[in-house]
Amino acid sequence: MKIADIQDDIAEELVSKEQIDAKIREVAAQVDRDYAGKNPLLVAVLKGAVNTLAAFSQALRIPVTMDFMSLSSYGSGTTSSGTVTVRQDLSTDVRGRHVLIVEDIIDSGLTLDWLIKELKRRGAASVEVFALLEKPARHEVHIDVKYKGYEIPDKFVVGFGLDYNERYRNLDSIAVLKPQVYQGE
Ligand code: XMP
Ligand code: MG
Repeated sequence: MKIADIQDDIAEELVSKEQIDAKIREVAAQVDRDYAGKNPLLVAVLKGAVNTLAAFSQALRIPVTMDFMSLSSYGSGTTSSGTVTVRQDLSTDVRGRHVLIVEDIIDSGLTLDWLIKELKRRGAASVEVFALLEKPARHEVHIDVKYKGYEIPDKFVVGFGLDYNERYRNLDSIAVLKPQVYQGE
């Protein structure tokens, strides 16, 4: 789905498909060098990171394995609390593996902070992060993100895996919705 298909719902496009593709290619080339011979395990948090994982893994030239985790982070309203529950766990034993977490967006950072610690606790040889988007204004914890994508302002975004009420995940770019979309619900 493209912006033109849902023009009435879109306030502005923040990151184009071309920008996403270029960033993913750039990070993939870096990861190809850094992980040569290491067969890293790419871990994506469902569901938002699925599109980034699919595009990123195809851009890589090195062999990788992939796994998924579903996490819920309970808090009041739209803010995550840092209390994380595993809804669906990995099927891979991470002991001794070089894990690269692939994320759609870092907001407070609390979910990711929990996940990094959990993977290290399980015995991963290394844990690094690629996040396609970051909202620096909302970070509540410092996370060392080795592979950075785009910094965006503190606005709720959809597209490329990110949703509003499960919609817009299949938009091929990152956009902000018009306020009327939320009011209509
Ligand atoms: P924390 O706060 O723990 O949470 O870093 C990150 C997760 O929050 C979701 N998130 C968003 N989802 N549009 C979305 O569709 C957004 O603008 C947005 N900001 C945060 C997302 O699931 C992310 O993994
Ligand atoms: Mg997510």
